[in-house]
Amino acid sequence: MSTARLVINPAFAVGPVRRRTFGSFAEHLGRCIYTGIYEPGHPAADEDGYRTDVLELVRELGVSSVRYPGGNFVSGYRWEDGVGPVDQRPARLDLAWHSLEPNTFGTDEFMKWAAKADVEPMMAINLGTRGIQEGLDILEYCNVPGGSHHAEQRRANGADEPYRVKMWCLGNEMDGPWQTGHKTPEEYGRLAAETGRAMRMIDPGLELVACGSSGRSMPTFGEWERIVLTESWDQVDMISAHAYYAEKDSLQEFLVSAEDMDRFIDSVAATADAVAAARKSDKVIGISFDEWNVWYQERTPSKPPTGDDWPVAPRLLEDHYNVADAIVVANLLVSLLRHTDRVWSASQAQLVNVIAPIMAEPEGPVWKQTTFHPFALTSKYAQGDVLRVIVDGPTIETEQFGTVQALDAVATWSEEAGALFLVNRHETEAVATTCEVPAGLTLTEAVVLQHDDPYWQASPEDDTTVAPRPLEGVTLDGAELSLELPPMSWTMVRLAR
Ligand code: AHR
Repeated sequence: MSTARLVINPAFAVGPVRRRTFGSFAEHLGRCIYTGIYEPGHPAADEDGYRTDVLELVRELGVSSVRYPGGNFVSGYRWEDGVGPVDQRPARLDLAWHSLEPNTFGTDEFMKWAAKADVEPMMAINLGTRGIQEGLDILEYCNVPGGSHHAEQRRANGADEPYRVKMWCLGNEMDGPWQTGHKTPEEYGRLAAETGRAMRMIDPGLELVACGSSGRSMPTFGEWERIVLTESWDQVDMISAHAYYAEKDSLQEFLVSAEDMDRFIDSVAATADAVAAARKSDKVIGISFDEWNVWYQERTPSKPPTGDDWPVAPRLLEDHYNVADAIVVANLLVSLLRHTDRVWSASQAQLVNVIAPIMAEPEGPVWKQTTFHPFALTSKYAQGDVLRVIVDGPTIETEQFGTVQALDAVATWSEEAGALFLVNRHETEAVATTCEVPAGLTLTEAVVLQHDDPYWQASPEDDTTVAPRPLEGVTLDGAELSLELPPMSWTMVRLAR
């Protein structure tokens, strides 16, 4: 068995654990909203039509913020359609997902749901088919206390107090040719700048996110960020990054997907810093990693309907995740945490039914995907500061990234506790690991997520056979923690100070 040595030291602090790292995303796409978070008539629905069984799992998942209403959907969305008396709201064609949008769920329903779920709302505006004025209108509707047209409209619709939404995405994936209203970086950068400037005239305290690239492999990646930030430098606080991973030809290559996320984040940060240097600016632009996950775009019935078929809430992107997917999700969280100095917000895409950790059957039960567990536990126990972990252990030769460490790890450290999140990305090799930790700690808990069949999937019938279980044989002897990490596994060790 190979061996690894890790060092955990509070002196290696990267920055604070940000609650916003544990954000999610709810788009009007497939069954995320309708029959996902909202299903009037469901036995578990509350008086507002929200599924309380879903709400309970959202709380257990430890979600901090939720991005809404899209995604590709937002680039054709008229927010006004989704407010006011429900029976007067128009049904519209949603071009992004070739679906019929009934608009029975809109901004007010989302805000009320977010309050019940205890999550921070993050809004996206339509800069595809629309522009500055509509962005200003929805901001006024959400954030202005009263007196003006849209603020009074909100009050008349039952929300007396403004929602005071802080984080706003200036469009979605405007670099993507699939996006309604797709733009060049120059066109988009100017529009983002002018929209942001006008929005700040209403509310100077906003945190604005410019669209970055919808993937590191986009042909415009890098130049897109440089040009967009050059245009919008003074108006934006963060630039977005989106990344989806899937097993293609090799399980081992898939297991090291977090290397791509690491490099993606580092490249966006370097590009933003290059723009700062060229502008002689000390401003630091953060990254909003507001779409990330495993997504089998080729495998599942992801393709939207065609022709005259415009269904309401069809089953789209309902990926069923296996154990290997959960290990990759866990590793992506390690990457996001490790970059807490630069990733100021993140949203797993998505929350319910659509490439999601939570599944909800119409008129039926809810169940947890394998990916639910590492998210929930990391969100719950990552506290205080993020500590970079030095890893000296076995390596893996990969086609995509060359030689990489088999083990990946990050730690968090607060006044009361420490937590260590470890991923053994090796497909077949267990690793005997020793870890130098500060003296005087006690071992609280060690759990592992692993299964001999990496393709085991949870289902409505069985979502408990594979879940984190106690890791046997972990010892803490003074300042030395010893444990054996099974191949293809995620481990969390909790220490008390
Ligand atoms: O999350 C699914 C889709 O992926 C989003 O609508 C879009 O922004 C991205 O391409």
